[in-house]
Amino acid sequence: MLSAPAVKTALRSSAPNALPKVGLRTLTTTTSPSTPANNGSTQQKRNMATVQDAPPVQRQRGLQDQDRIFQNLYGHHGADLKSAQKYGDWHKTKEILLKGHDWIISEIKASGLRGRGGAGFPSGMKWSFMNPKGWENDTKPRYLVVNADEGEPGTCKDREIMRKDPHKLIEGCLVAGRAMNCTAAYIYIRGEFYHEATVLQRAIQEAYQAGLIGKNACDSGYDFDIILHRGMGAYVCGEETSLIESLEGKAGKPRLKPPFPAAVGLFGCPSTVANVETIAVAPTIVRRGANWFNSFGRERNSGTKLFCISGHVNNPCTVEEEMSIPLKELIEKHCGGVRGGWDNLKAIIPGGSSTPILPAKTCETQLMDFDALKDSQSGLGTAAVIVMDQSTDVVRAISRLSKFYHHESCGQCTPCREGSKWTEQIMKRFENGTARSREIDMMQELTKQVEGHTICALGEAFAWPVQGLIRHFRPELEARIADHAQKSGGEALAGGWQHDAGKHGMLVSPGM
Ligand SMILES: Cc1cc2nc3c(=O)[nH]c(=O)nc-3n(C[C@H](O)[C@H](O)[C@H](O)COP(=O)(O)O)c2cc1C
Ligand code: SF4
Repeated sequence: MLSAPAVKTALRSSAPNALPKVGLRTLTTTTSPSTPANNGSTQQKRNMATVQDAPPVQRQRGLQDQDRIFQNLYGHHGADLKSAQKYGDWHKTKEILLKGHDWIISEIKASGLRGRGGAGFPSGMKWSFMNPKGWENDTKPRYLVVNADEGEPGTCKDREIMRKDPHKLIEGCLVAGRAMNCTAAYIYIRGEFYHEATVLQRAIQEAYQAGLIGKNACDSGYDFDIILHRGMGAYVCGEETSLIESLEGKAGKPRLKPPFPAAVGLFGCPSTVANVETIAVAPTIVRRGANWFNSFGRERNSGTKLFCISGHVNNPCTVEEEMSIPLKELIEKHCGGVRGGWDNLKAIIPGGSSTPILPAKTCETQLMDFDALKDSQSGLGTAAVIVMDQSTDVVRAISRLSKFYHHESCGQCTPCREGSKWTEQIMKRFENGTARSREIDMMQELTKQVEGHTICALGEAFAWPVQGLIRHFRPELEARIADHAQKSGGEALAGGWQHDAGKHGMLVSPGM
């Protein structure tokens, strides 16, 4: 290892000229293309963000195979170093490293990359928090922590990267690590991903042997280690501060913020936690150029994105597509459509289980990006699309998710610990019709009391799906309660007791 001052001298090397960029394909016009999904003037237009006025930009439409970053998503070639190099990985990495942190961060900022772990925070800005004025005077080690926990139900994209394209992630660690002047990267991988951990560890070994990482990585004068750490399988360990606690050998319970990890992170050192996909796309972005990446998707929602589509489609899959692709097009183009045809669609959860459900009529015109889904009162989250056809009991589906979130609550905050339990109990009553009609509003109120009042976002994760259900499927909840009342001779009492439980000598809540 280089001595600390030598590392810093190497790290502080200024950025020379930009790398040559590959030529852009012919750009399409900025007018909205005609697709089955936007065949009407009232629908969301694809080329303008709806949340802010932005100057029109020349944007590409439709992703070609050569535009895909993850060329080995379906395992057509090996996950070994030679195969990865054949497909462009580790190309000119030394030159990228020598350009220095400012250049890499400015490219990532210009590319418009937003974090792929769920929150969609601009990655360039987040990474720049690691290099505040005077960072070089701090002698502590600095860490990149890669979040490979992938616990959100419905999400299956990071595992594909680690299984098939591990060198993209390793090169990404090096490039992102250089941008943040990190000493090492810790990859925190979900314990159940045994196969992925094996493939990744093998690839890390190959990279060390080839001199690509470790001392004098890629012959650049920069020392950088990568350590793979297997987690123990708790959903909350995917939350960044909980992940850090777990890496430190403690129980995975989220920390209060501030301080943020960039100030006090892993082992008390400056750290940044980033998702596998965010890190794995970084080398291709800086190699092909920020403009190339930025030319896909809408303003503020740029780039290509891995979507994992599951549920009632003919061909469930994980696919890399252009950001802002219409949801209907995504399903019809890559999944062979909804089981039984589009008209058989009932609802879709668009971004992993914590994002609010959307009814079929909204899905018809929905664009798949951060801002469009926010406008529809849902979210892109992890881009895990869960499709439900007419045969689905949506109340039961959301009730099952409530059970999951209650199980995964770490119990530190009262609104989450108690609220997730109540939510599970009330949702169970909605499911079998033994709730009272007024409990629908009570449930809504409960979720609003949780939102924003917890240490981590698991509170929102259990609140939002229930809010989505009430927003779009309230008649279904009411019908179920009415149906039960009709069949059993009266609406259930509070707590799910039968309406005539008292008469049968059973205890009921006080005042019933
Ligand atoms: C309960 C909970 C679970 C999370 N699980 C994951 C996860 O499995 N993988 C992930 O990348 N981010 C997860 N996140 C988000 C992380 O806290 C963090 O925002 C993300 O790793 C940042 O990466 P990015 O900037 O690349 O998006 C989770 C957040 C919460 C609140
Ligand atoms: S919100 Fe829930 S999971 Fe997060 S810290 Fe609080 S109790 Fe734990």
